[in-house]
Amino acid sequence: MNIVLLGAPGAGKGTQSERLVKEYGIPHISTGDILRAAVAEGTKLGKKAKGYMDAGELVPDDLIIDLMSDRLAQPDAAKGFILDGFPRTTAQAAALDAALAANGRSIDCALAIEVPFEVIIKRLSSRRVCRQCGHAGTEEETVCPSCGGEMYQRDDDREETVRNRLAVYEKSTAPLIDYYAGAGVLVRVDGNRPVDEVYADTKAAIDRD
Ligand code: AP5
Repeated sequence: MNIVLLGAPGAGKGTQSERLVKEYGIPHISTGDILRAAVAEGTKLGKKAKGYMDAGELVPDDLIIDLMSDRLAQPDAAKGFILDGFPRTTAQAAALDAALAANGRSIDCALAIEVPFEVIIKRLSSRRVCRQCGHAGTEEETVCPSCGGEMYQRDDDREETVRNRLAVYEKSTAPLIDYYAGAGVLVRVDGNRPVDEVYADTKAAIDRD
């Protein structure tokens, strides 16, 4: 099962992915997580990506496409994957389709998790993330409920940066909704409901395929 999770920053892609991994046993591949690890390790990629990420801008397509073609070629992705935060531009989507088609594969389901922007701004200003396992929670959680790790606030979750991330999403990523609708694999999910309800619809959409 090859799944793409679409949705604005803070729509709940990471939250739904945590559950999908447990249910379907396929890897969760988040470009944001990979980039944050590269920044923390101070790699060449991390040094190039940091300024874009801090400003809420997209990292250039060529860097992301190279990164993801390496990641998707790893053995654990052969049985399927959950892509979170990739693709984010039409060029990335076309590169992904070409890489999959070369191996006789394609995207089975693209889920657009939809949440009003004002709800997202509130969610992200109170989001805290586990340094160890990446679990996304709220400011009430000082210790990660999944692994006991330290919870911290992401640099790009300041309101001004969040507003720019949302503007970038509208301009560069929202067109992918039409892209995947055209491919006949798009399912829209109302993400402005409790996590369990969003998950029930997400799972139903995947199982329908
Ligand atoms: P990335 O890490 O991908 O961030 P994002 O897309 O902005 O998504 P988020 O991780 O912020 O949100 P989410 O949808 O996963 O929400 P979550 O589940 O955490 O990207 C960061 C940066 O990296 C980008 O800005 C860019 O610079 C760069 N980048 C990454 N990929 C790139 C690419 N492909 N190309 C170029 N650049 C790239 O939930 C949010 C909060 O809401 C949490 O607190 C959670 O507990 C809560 N929540 C979740 N669901 C619900 C619910 N149903 N009800 C109430 N609260 C909920």
